[in-house]
Amino acid sequence: MDFAALSLRDHTTGQLTDLSRVLGLGESVESPAQLLGDLLGAAADRSLSEPPMWPSDIADDATPVEFSVAFDEDGSLTLRVLGETVAEQPGPAANLRATRRVLESLADRYQLSFERFHAVEDLFLTDDPYGDFALWYSLILGPGSEPQFKVYFNPEVRGREHAPVLVAEALTRLGLGEAYRTATEHAILRGDLDRFSFFALDLHEQPRSRVKVYISHDAAEASDMVRAAAAAPGVDLERVRDFCSLVGGSGPFTERPLVSSYAFVEGDTDRPSNYSLYLPIRDYVEDDEEARERVAALLERHHLDTQVLDRALDALTSRPLRDGVGLIAHVSLRMDPVRPGVTVYLSAEAYSTTPPRVRQEIA
Ligand code: TRP
Repeated sequence: MDFAALSLRDHTTGQLTDLSRVLGLGESVESPAQLLGDLLGAAADRSLSEPPMWPSDIADDATPVEFSVAFDEDGSLTLRVLGETVAEQPGPAANLRATRRVLESLADRYQLSFERFHAVEDLFLTDDPYGDFALWYSLILGPGSEPQFKVYFNPEVRGREHAPVLVAEALTRLGLGEAYRTATEHAILRGDLDRFSFFALDLHEQPRSRVKVYISHDAAEASDMVRAAAAAPGVDLERVRDFCSLVGGSGPFTERPLVSSYAFVEGDTDRPSNYSLYLPIRDYVEDDEEARERVAALLERHHLDTQVLDRALDALTSRPLRDGVGLIAHVSLRMDPVRPGVTVYLSAEAYSTTPPRVRQEIA
């Protein structure tokens, strides 16, 4: 195939189809590819030989999607796509409207519920958004179920200093007023170094539907993450420490920040039922081969299938892992009483690959 003629849609839906096969989600492949095409917006049919329409912060090379594979400890696998819909005349406000329009157009077909979205939208959605993004979506594909959707708001959309007030008010409106204190007491302790970075909602009405608050920790040590994790009941704090050292090294983590998320489900009031820790592994390794080794070791430690990881990487690219860094962008540890596991975030690399760092090897 003539690579120059490939569009963003061809590239990313091809990857989605191949990843679906790797994960055994074969049956539902057809419509997710169509869905992803719609979610790409105006960027879909642009050739990859042209520069990206919009410098999306979803991925380092401006591809407006990022895949992730969620490995559950019970062996089940879920494929997700995080993305931003690119408007005809792209910009934070126009992309916000485009993302919203596509999601609303899917509401009937996928029985989406915008109830909680409507409860907080006047806080997070503005005509003049500040920052890198205003609204992102995530498309979630599990075995034998209809696609599910999630949205991410930007707590800093009205300026960084307003984020705490926005998050506190949003939680209150969603019946989680006490949760704000739990989050700040455990995870916002180091002045400007800890900040609210995402606020996410599931667009489905189910008891397990989540409200998620994300906090980014600049220059954190593993002990900061242990403190953050302790907000959720029953978390094995030793696992948090192990995860940091196995995936990221000894710290402090002074490159891209480690991120905490607290998830609240029906019945939660002040304390989250789930804590997840995200580590931007691409900043803490020399190349993707090293990242792959670390992730494989993590999966093994949790008795998860490393072959799925290798097949997923093959589905995305044929380049040698040593030739770049960032194909594996983040790794997360999900400490959930119902669905514990590990999630690996994988770049589409539609536009470019970040060159590897020089290996510190003795010849
Ligand atoms: N690319 C951004 C970053 O690395 C946003 C992002 C994409 C992200 N996937 C993520 C942040 C997973 C945390 C976890 O920060």
